[in-house]
Amino acid sequence: MAKPDIQQVKQRFGIIGNNSLLNRAIDIALQVAPTDMSVLVTGESGVGKESFPQIIHQFSHRKHGSYIAVNCGSIPEGTIDSELFGHEKGSFTGATGERKGYFEVANGGTLFLDEVGELPLSTQARLLRVLETGEFIKVGSSKVEKTDVRVVAATNLDMVDAVNRGTFREDLYYRLNTVPIRVPSLRERKEDIYLLFRKFASDCAEKYRMPAIVLLDSAKEILMNYRWPGNVRQLKNITEQISIIEREREITPDILRSYLPANEVGIVPIKAGTSTSGEQNMFSSEREILYQVLWDMRKDMNDLKKVVQELVSGKIQPSELARQHTEETLLPSLLVADSGIQPSAPISIKYKKDEQPVVIPVDESHVDETDYEEQTLSLEDVEREMIKKALEKHGGKRKNAAEDLKISERTLYRKIKEYNLDK
Ligand SMILES: Nc1ncnc2c1ncn2[C@@H]1O[C@H](COP(=O)(O)OP(=O)(O)O)[C@@H](O)[C@H]1O
Ligand SMILES: [Mg+2]
Repeated sequence: MAKPDIQQVKQRFGIIGNNSLLNRAIDIALQVAPTDMSVLVTGESGVGKESFPQIIHQFSHRKHGSYIAVNCGSIPEGTIDSELFGHEKGSFTGATGERKGYFEVANGGTLFLDEVGELPLSTQARLLRVLETGEFIKVGSSKVEKTDVRVVAATNLDMVDAVNRGTFREDLYYRLNTVPIRVPSLRERKEDIYLLFRKFASDCAEKYRMPAIVLLDSAKEILMNYRWPGNVRQLKNITEQISIIEREREITPDILRSYLPANEVGIVPIKAGTSTSGEQNMFSSEREILYQVLWDMRKDMNDLKKVVQELVSGKIQPSELARQHTEETLLPSLLVADSGIQPSAPISIKYKKDEQPVVIPVDESHVDETDYEEQTLSLEDVEREMIKKALEKHGGKRKNAAEDLKISERTLYRKIKEYNLDK
């Protein structure tokens, strides 16, 4: 089979961009597709990893077989073995019938294991076995069964770090990583940012039958230099938000800035530097988390101040508030569990009596100190609040809340239990 043309592949899979790192990643996918080798796709959240297993499947001899995508991070630990490998009748409470697992169903096809870094160690052992020998055993059975499945896995975690921390088996890592494909972050492919923006803006215009938004040159500058921690997914969301919320079709720097979280534009980024995969989930120190929490709270505070001022001066009516403040973006920082950093140090924050916590910015010294009492707000408290907010924002939809918080669904489940938020 002649190797397909990269540009055609991009068109077929709706991949926008012409960056050489991106082209390289697609090229590797095409080269490895006809083989049966395992592939590990790495890259930060939102870079577009999900197209790669599909490309690999479509250009393999398995393309008429089934393609099954499984998000390992969203299956509860208790059922994951049974979902992947199946179970026998009566193998656990609730197992009323026999069930086929994905490894059996995908026989002859491709299995995409997304967020593979979230697999529990016991499941990792089973996975290693099936990758090495094609053999697996259903939960509650002793019969060894055979399957022929090609595995493509993806993760946004730093897997070397996961191996070092003992949360991911080294042998499995090498086994999956036979062919690594790294999808570049958006800040590594700045030349694609504007292309993507225009594509999302015109898609949105078509969908809602309205003219596409256009950026003033000065706004384009901001778009290009923003660091896009949520990558293409974030760019897409923000472009859609602006398209829908703003009436004016010409987007000024001020409008654009108001949609970028934490007003990071022009400010020394907290997580500066070039990215490595999983950067988003890894903070190098606890201090960075604290900075980010404080920074975000300060931004909330400033936003609130602005709203209060506008209300007092009659510039806006209370009824307009809901419309104006829907684009609140949650802080992706509280990855206490995922980053392996223990939230030991409490940050000192002043509470106004009987009210929500506020951070008093340094330049607010004129605020009457007697109105406040010093209390401590631990990272856990902040985290709990963020999770509560995210769940509220998404009407209790855990999948969306987890995405917003940039933690896995499983971590979110655990935290909800831990903080009794399911009551
Ligand atoms: N190069 C691209 N061109 C067009 N859309 C893209 C591109 N990369 C990502 N996207 C879009 O961004 C979103 C996130 O992509 P996804 O593959 O889910 O990211 P990841 O799995 O790496 O977190 C999806 O809506 C996807 O369609
Ligand atoms: Mg994904």
